[in-house]
Amino acid sequence: MPTGDDDSGAEPSPGPATAAPDHGEAPPRAQPAVAAGGYTAIMVARVPPEVTHPLRGRVLRPGAPPGSVRLSADDHPATAAFAATTPTGEVVGTAIVYPEPCPWQPQRPAAWRLRGMATDPGRRSGGIGDRVLGAVLDHVRGQGGALVWCNARTPARRFYERAGFVPHGEPWEDPDIGPHVAMSREL
Ligand SMILES: CC(C)(COP(=O)(O)OP(=O)(O)OC[C@H]1O[C@@H](n2cnc3c(N)ncnc32)[C@H](O)[C@@H]1OP(=O)(O)O)[C@@H](O)C(=O)NCCC(=O)NCCS
Repeated sequence: MPTGDDDSGAEPSPGPATAAPDHGEAPPRAQPAVAAGGYTAIMVARVPPEVTHPLRGRVLRPGAPPGSVRLSADDHPATAAFAATTPTGEVVGTAIVYPEPCPWQPQRPAAWRLRGMATDPGRRSGGIGDRVLGAVLDHVRGQGGALVWCNARTPARRFYERAGFVPHGEPWEDPDIGPHVAMSREL
């Protein structure tokens, strides 16, 4: 599918007309610590996109040059980045979301694209990804978004399905990153 993978650097700029832009700096969106597989003290909050780069690079672009982890969407004012952070400041979960038309429903208004979902390998299956995704969906709802879509790596498909995403079309192989499937979730 020619829509770009979930975390490649080559992608169109976020569409300005699909949702109300959020021009403010990262607001204090920290959620109360909730039990999540023992990671009760981990907080999920909106952060400047650069905060997500080290984990995004380590998990989604291992071995790639540091600059390749950057997305043009990181610079767009409507982009919202989220991080799960330990009490010592270690970033253990990330995601970004921004307005971009859904490739298979381009006329749909208020569509947002999710990218850069990553949990530290040593902390997976404890609910961190679910909480980061929850913060993403809350944000998009708050901005009037109606649809969130992503190009999911197929090993993450069940994770997204559990969160209400449904696949679209056939999986495809990204030569650099591996198999993907397009997915979306109505809000
Ligand atoms: C996909 C990814 C972000 C999920 O992060 P995570 O923190 O492990 O996510 P969660 O813990 O919320 O959920 C993962 C699994 O743990 C299970 N789980 C969630 N909370 C749990 C808990 N408290 N106790 C035990 N298991 C739990 C879930 O059922 C889920 O199982 P599933 O695979 O059957 O859906 C993570 O696996 C990752 O970084 N993968 C590599 C990069 C990647 O593929 N990113 C997606 C790009 S599209």
